[in-house]
Amino acid sequence: MKRFNSVPLIMAKSIQTNLFHNIGVDLGTTKTLVYVKGRGIVVNEPTVVATNNKTGQILAIGQEAEGMLGKTPLHISAIRPLSSGVISDFEVTEKMLHYFLERCKAKGVLGRIFDWPRLVIGVPTGGTEVEKRAVEDVARSAGAKEVYLIEEPIAVALGAQLKIKESQGIFIADIGGGSTEVAVISLGGVVVSKSLRVAGDKLNEDIIYYFRDKYKLSIGEKTAERIKIFIGSAVDLGTNQEMNVKGRDLTRGLPKEIRVKEDDIREAISPSLEKIIGAIKDTIESTPPELIGDIMETGVILSGGTSMLRGFDKLLEDSVDLPVNLIDDPVTSVIRGIGIILENVEDYKDILINIIRENPPL
Ligand SMILES: Nc1ncnc2c1ncn2[C@@H]1O[C@H](COP(=O)(O)OP(=O)(O)OP(=O)(O)O)[C@@H](O)[C@H]1O
Ligand SMILES: [Mg+2]
Repeated sequence: MKRFNSVPLIMAKSIQTNLFHNIGVDLGTTKTLVYVKGRGIVVNEPTVVATNNKTGQILAIGQEAEGMLGKTPLHISAIRPLSSGVISDFEVTEKMLHYFLERCKAKGVLGRIFDWPRLVIGVPTGGTEVEKRAVEDVARSAGAKEVYLIEEPIAVALGAQLKIKESQGIFIADIGGGSTEVAVISLGGVVVSKSLRVAGDKLNEDIIYYFRDKYKLSIGEKTAERIKIFIGSAVDLGTNQEMNVKGRDLTRGLPKEIRVKEDDIREAISPSLEKIIGAIKDTIESTPPELIGDIMETGVILSGGTSMLRGFDKLLEDSVDLPVNLIDDPVTSVIRGIGIILENVEDYKDILINIIRENPPL
């Protein structure tokens, strides 16, 4: 009897599996990326939403909303609903994610009827249970039928094509917009980790304060980010770059343009870079000796947008006496790792976190 029963059971399971639309999300402070199984990365947009304060209506999401940052009239707010890697505005995050998920919907009538999104979504290792649950809740409210969480450093390691399930230690430093996540991975899990709310946003803030103090010039967040990306550096690279910066003179209240040098920007951001390096050193100090041996060979894998700051890899290498490898395309490493999971769910189901128990096993 069992043999006859198992056929419909297998069929039902297979139909159920096919009805699920497997989607991966990297919900970052600066950028949100979405991966659809079989299609690849379909959304790569700034985590910004513009709303009308009077009506609560959403006016723009992603790229378009980012263009409004710092330029909105009183009745419009362009906001970033995540701060330091954590959801700070649940409702706006939900609307944004819902909008991105709608874009991933399957085409055709059948696709629309049987569209049950199953989400695998990245979370910082240092996050609390409440923060993790908020990510899960936001994904469900945005339309996901099943939600699984994955620790971001593990996704980065997968994105770097590393074999995460072996007993070989892997050292990941993911320096994004809102947070720095440092973790040592072995046997498919995180052995040691450290999370720091200092990353790209803090560097922008440092630049804004520096201009205010040194040049009495008020500049916006986007200008600070441009300066960081164009002439920012972590060590003296001998390039002596310069650029013109426009802002408002704080003493006269009038527009002013000044020319700034690479060295000035390095001075502005150095204390924060030291904090990031400090977190990496602390993690090395807490790593079990057997894993340190592995890491001396494989080195530190650097990921996240801020790891592209010119000379940062060199500063780190000089500070920790370990080889440093900047991952290819550091901004997409988390979502590429999640993509690998989605394409081979059976192989990775044991490393996914499922904090709401009503999800059936994958
Ligand atoms: N070339 C560059 N030099 C320096 N910083 C850069 C460069 N390119 C991007 N960044 C910075 O990288 C940060 C965004 O990185 P990323 O997309 O990894 O963050 P995120 O995943 O959205 O944030 P988090 O993981 O902290 O929640 C921004 O602060 C951006 O200014
Ligand atoms: Mg990130």
